[in-house]
Amino acid sequence: MNLILLGPPGAGKGTQAAVLSERLGISHISTGDILREEVKEGSALGLKAKQIMQRGSLVPDEIIVQIVEKAINGKKAANGFILDGFPRTLVQAERLDGILSGLNRNLDLVLDFKTSTAVIIERLSGRRICPSCRAGYHVKNIPPRAEGICDNCGSRLSQRDDDKSETVIKRIDLYQKSISSIIDYYGKKGILETVSGDLEVEALYKLIVEMFKNKGLS
Ligand code: AP5
Repeated sequence: MNLILLGPPGAGKGTQAAVLSERLGISHISTGDILREEVKEGSALGLKAKQIMQRGSLVPDEIIVQIVEKAINGKKAANGFILDGFPRTLVQAERLDGILSGLNRNLDLVLDFKTSTAVIIERLSGRRICPSCRAGYHVKNIPPRAEGICDNCGSRLSQRDDDKSETVIKRIDLYQKSISSIIDYYGKKGILETVSGDLEVEALYKLIVEMFKNKGLS
């Protein structure tokens, strides 16, 4: 199954994508995570992306499309993929179609996470990530077993650079400006569904899996 998760920053895309990926055995492709990994490694791409991400702006389409093409072509995505954080522009959506048609693959479903602003702010201010294994937590909603320590690898958790309130406002604003053309694009293709990102993780998972069944996707 090949999926896209759309939604504003903090909508819960990454968290739900991780659950779906593990339980359905399909690859989770997060452009944000891939970029953060490049920044951590100090690669040429990471150096370029770092300032852009800290400002809450978008990394150029050409760079992002190359990242996604490589990930979709990789072995891990052979059984299917979940794109999280991509596409963010109409150009990215169109380029994705080109990549998929070259591989004789289709998109099965695009899920648009509608998440209220109050929930987004609460989630982003409490988000903690593991800098080593990238596991995600929330201080109240999804706390680690020991405060500030990753359950999986024992590393000390940190906050994302772009979760500062002024950058968050910019990211939400940018998302709202760019999303309508993408929603229209997938709406016209008849593969768009809306889900409530306000739901807790397990309730949302059940709803999505039910949707797959109703559509004959599982
Ligand atoms: P990216 O990493 O993609 O960030 P984002 O889209 O802004 O989304 P987030 O990761 O902030 O939110 P999420 O919806 O995944 O929420 P999460 O599950 O973590 O992009 C970062 C930057 O990279 C961009 O600003 C840009 O510069 C660049 N970039 C990336 N892709 C790009 C592209 N395609 N083109 C150009 N530039 C690109 O959840 C948030 C918190 O809530 C967590 O603490 C979590 O534990 C908690 N939580 C999640 N779900 C629930 C729930 N159901 N109930 C309770 N708590 C929950």
